[in-house]
Amino acid sequence: MVSGGKNAALAILPAALLGDSPSVIENVPDIDDVHIIVDIMEYLGAKVDFADNIMTVDPLGVDKFNPPYELAGKMRASYYFAPVLLGMFKRAQVPLPGGCDIGNRPIDQTIKGMEALGARAETLGGVLECEAEELIGADIFLEMPSVGATVNSMLTAVSASGTTCIHNAAKEPHIVDLANFLSSMGASVKGAGTDVIRIRGGRHLHGANYTVVPDQIETGTLMIAAAATGGDVVITGAIPTHMEALSAKLLEMGVHVSSEDDRIHVRSNRNFRAVNVKTQGYPGFPTDLQQPLSALLTVANGTSIVTETIFESRFRFLEELRKMGANSRVIETTAIITGVERLVGARVNATDLRAGASLVIAALMAEGVTEISGVGYIMRGYERFDEKLRSLGASIQHISEE
Ligand code: UD1
Repeated sequence: MVSGGKNAALAILPAALLGDSPSVIENVPDIDDVHIIVDIMEYLGAKVDFADNIMTVDPLGVDKFNPPYELAGKMRASYYFAPVLLGMFKRAQVPLPGGCDIGNRPIDQTIKGMEALGARAETLGGVLECEAEELIGADIFLEMPSVGATVNSMLTAVSASGTTCIHNAAKEPHIVDLANFLSSMGASVKGAGTDVIRIRGGRHLHGANYTVVPDQIETGTLMIAAAATGGDVVITGAIPTHMEALSAKLLEMGVHVSSEDDRIHVRSNRNFRAVNVKTQGYPGFPTDLQQPLSALLTVANGTSIVTETIFESRFRFLEELRKMGANSRVIETTAIITGVERLVGARVNATDLRAGASLVIAALMAEGVTEISGVGYIMRGYERFDEKLRSLGASIQHISEE
C-alpha cells in the first residue's frame, strides 16, 4: 500500500496556514520531513495534531514570520513557508534550504517569481528575506520547469490581487495536488498539470478537508524493488497513470507490468534487458527514480546509458554500488552501466534519500548481507520502508545509526 506523497504533503502543509480556519489533511506520510514541517508550523504558532496519517492544522495562532535555522535549515521544502508568510505578514525570513546534496540547487527562479508579483526578495547571510507592501498578479516566466519555483510562485500568487500566469510551470503530480488543495481552500487555480498555471489571487481562503495524492516516487521505488527481487507483487493505493514513464522502461527491460484501478502488478524473472534512460520533468522519466532504476540496471544483460539532466550529483551512489560489484563509469552527466551477473553484499553508505533506497534495492539483489549506513535519509522520505519490503519477502532490519 502506497503512502501519501512526500513532495505533495511538503507543499500542502505550509499552504494550510493560509486558511482562516483549521484544515484536516488525510493520507499525510509519517516521515521525518513531515515532522520537521510540523515543528516549523508549531514554532510559528500553529496548533497541529498528527495521528494515523491524519493531520489537523489550526493556523489561527500563527504570529511569526521567521522560522529559525535549526528547523528550516534541515530541509529543502522549508522555503515553501516564505511565500505563505509573505502573504500573511507582508514579510518573511526563512533560512535557506538544506536537504539532499544532489547537486547545485539554486533558488533564483523562486526569487524571480516573487519579484514579478511586486515583492523584494533576496538571500542575505543564508536567509531568504522577502517583503512586499502589496502583491499584484503578473506573468511569471520560469526559465526551467522547476518544482520548487512553481510551488513558491503558486503560493505567492494566491495572496496577490489580480491574475498571475506561471509560464513553463512544472507539471508533476504534486503540483496538481497543491492546486487541488488550494482550490478546496477557496482559491482559483486553473491549468495545473499543464505548462501554464493561471491563478486569480487575493481571495479569502478557508480551511479544507483534503486527502494527499499517493506518492509517485514511493510507488516507483516499490515497483523497482518488486522487479529486483524477481517477485510477483501487487502494489495497491497507487495512481498508475503517474507511473507511465517508469512502466514503459520496465516493460522495455522485460519486466511484466500491468495495472487496474489503483493497483499495479509487477512480475519479473530477474532477466533484465539493458535500456537507455534520460531524466526529465513530468511526464518524462523522474530524476527521483533514476537512482533506483540504475541499481536495477547494474544486473541487466548489456550496457545501459543513463543521462541525468536535472541534478548533476545524482550518480555518486554508483561508487557505493561498485563496492557491491557493479560495473559503471560516469562521464559528466551520463552513466554507462554494464550489467554484471551478480552483486555481492558489502558495507555501503547512503548519500541522499533516493540513493539510500537504491542501495536497499541493490542489497535485495545481492548475495550475502549488505549493511547500509546513512539510513536517516531513507527515514526522511519513505514511510515504513523496511516493513513494506518485509511484506514483499525481503529480509531487512533497521538497526539504529548509533
Ligand atoms: C523537487 C523535489 C525533488 C525532485 C525535483 C525534480 C520536492 C520537495 N523535491 O526538488 O524530490 O528531485 O523536484 O523533480 O518536491 N533550478 C534552478 N533555479 C531555481 C530552481 C531550480 O536553476 O530557482 C534547477 C535545479 O538546479 C535543477 C532543476 O532546476 O537542475 C529542477 O529543480 P527543481 O524542480 O526546482 O527541484 P526541487 O524543487 O528542488
